[in-house]
Amino acid sequence: MNIGKAFAREIEKHVEHVLSMTEIEAMIEQPKYDEQGDIAFPCFRLAKHFKKSPVQIAEQIAAKLEHPLYEKIIAVGPYINGFLDKKSYSKQIVQQIINEKDHYGSKTIGNGQTITIDFSSPNIAKPFSMGHLRSTVIGNSLTHIAKKCGFEVVKINHLGDWGTQFGKLITAYKLWGSETSVQENPIPVLLDLYVKFHEEADENDALNQEARAWFKKLEDGDKEATALWQWFRDESLKAFSKIYDLLDVSFDSYHGEAFYNDKMDETVDVLNEKGLLTLSEGAEVVKLAELDMPPCLIRKSDGATLYATRDLTAARYRQATYHFSKAIYVVGQEQTVHFRQFFSVLEKAGYQWAKHMVHVPFGFILKDGKKMSTRKGKVVLLEDVLQEAISLAKRNIEEKNPTIENKEAVAEAVGVGAVIYHDLKNERMNHVEFSLEEMLKVEGRTGPYVQYTHARACSILRKATDFNNDVLQKYRLGDEPGLSDSYSWHVIKHLRDFPHVVQRAFDDLEPSLIARYVFELAQDFNKYYSHVKVLTNDAERTARLSLVYTVTVVLKEGLRLLGIKAQKVCNGVRPIGLACMDKNTIS
Ligand code: ARG
Repeated sequence: MNIGKAFAREIEKHVEHVLSMTEIEAMIEQPKYDEQGDIAFPCFRLAKHFKKSPVQIAEQIAAKLEHPLYEKIIAVGPYINGFLDKKSYSKQIVQQIINEKDHYGSKTIGNGQTITIDFSSPNIAKPFSMGHLRSTVIGNSLTHIAKKCGFEVVKINHLGDWGTQFGKLITAYKLWGSETSVQENPIPVLLDLYVKFHEEADENDALNQEARAWFKKLEDGDKEATALWQWFRDESLKAFSKIYDLLDVSFDSYHGEAFYNDKMDETVDVLNEKGLLTLSEGAEVVKLAELDMPPCLIRKSDGATLYATRDLTAARYRQATYHFSKAIYVVGQEQTVHFRQFFSVLEKAGYQWAKHMVHVPFGFILKDGKKMSTRKGKVVLLEDVLQEAISLAKRNIEEKNPTIENKEAVAEAVGVGAVIYHDLKNERMNHVEFSLEEMLKVEGRTGPYVQYTHARACSILRKATDFNNDVLQKYRLGDEPGLSDSYSWHVIKHLRDFPHVVQRAFDDLEPSLIARYVFELAQDFNKYYSHVKVLTNDAERTARLSLVYTVTVVLKEGLRLLGIKAQKVCNGVRPIGLACMDKNTIS
């Protein structure tokens, strides 16, 4: 039963001709302080009609109200405040979670419609930058959140695998490269070749001409050029896939920019037919001055197409292939103008679906307050960062928890989870200060804190060897009351909020809402655990253990939506018991 609806219905009986049910529901508030109860209705708007003060009205109406969900309904100044009956309400929430398990909080708003999410999208032969890490982690979480809301999701890695830089790379490779060194260490070696090309080409313009010639060959499908390009792409992808494996991220499509080469003419034709193309210094552009934007460059004077042309083509391809109801692009804020431009060009071309394309920007990763760079000299290889996080996590485990099993697996889940959480705990538009030490702290707003809280809750359940699935189901179905102490009440209220948080995270495309949520739930649970003796043998023992069980379910599910694993950390602590068994074990 929806507590707001029940409350509103009671109030409606007394103000029937003055306010509608919808108006009442919209006016309902949540009091700031616990002492003021769980729900409140302000009486100011009724004063005129009843010709009394709001305080008097609140008193009169409150005196007549009662509902089984509410322990008491009283006037607090000009408000009517409802205090939920903790025992029955907490039982209701716990029952619901036992029933729905990891489906708790799931929505059907997607109704099977498709969302494409373009994320990660690194550039071939270049290091996976910190920006790409943010895109990967935010995009991956958004895929989980969108699925949870009932959407079909197509995960697209729009690889940067085309452009004049490949002419330069081929030239450099043929002059100074070796097959074995590329194979051994593809990204750094290819990057070195690229850097060397630029250094040498500054002195020797013939190199630039050669690079142009190689790119032309590549565009014309020359065998050697194509084979080299394909090889650079394969080797780069192999290196990227190590990162994706560690982060547990996968894609449905790796169609990068090159995929659209043979589809670009059609896009240019469409723009031409619609009369959108203008010549500007030999190049074809779509003017966007009326929208206060620079023109969108479609084709250069030498006939070469551009990043925007490829994005326009990819969008048309995606609509034709996946019929998306929404297309999301998780790309750094520095590309905001590009996205505004290319969305506008599609709208001008009359594509209605262009209205449902969204750029999801994010801030930079900073080191000591400065933007972290992947350029020459200070390349930070992401794989190294993740490996370092894992070994730091391992060191922490060896110091504090030397007896746990599966140390390697736990260290990996904690190290990687720490990096992911550190990113997602910030509203995405904020900049993130990069610090491994901060990320891995077990106290504070970190991934390990939430993971360990989950593991702790699981281990409580394991200690209660008599608390098994039968007991849990009996509690769910029986009329044994729920809990009413103030510590469990905070946990219950948090558990209740999970579905709303999922909804908001989807509406705002903001995983940080979930990151904050799991942290606060973990905090409230830890307070509960340190003040209440969960395992004491008394009448409320089953109710308490059931609450602990629901906390494990929601923490694990919340972490999953962020792309963080709870299970491995938990399994490492002790062999599996009732707690957080794999799906379907508890039915
Ligand atoms: N490869 C691009 C870069 O690294 C990002 C691509 C983003 N996706 C897109 N459809 N433009 O800057």
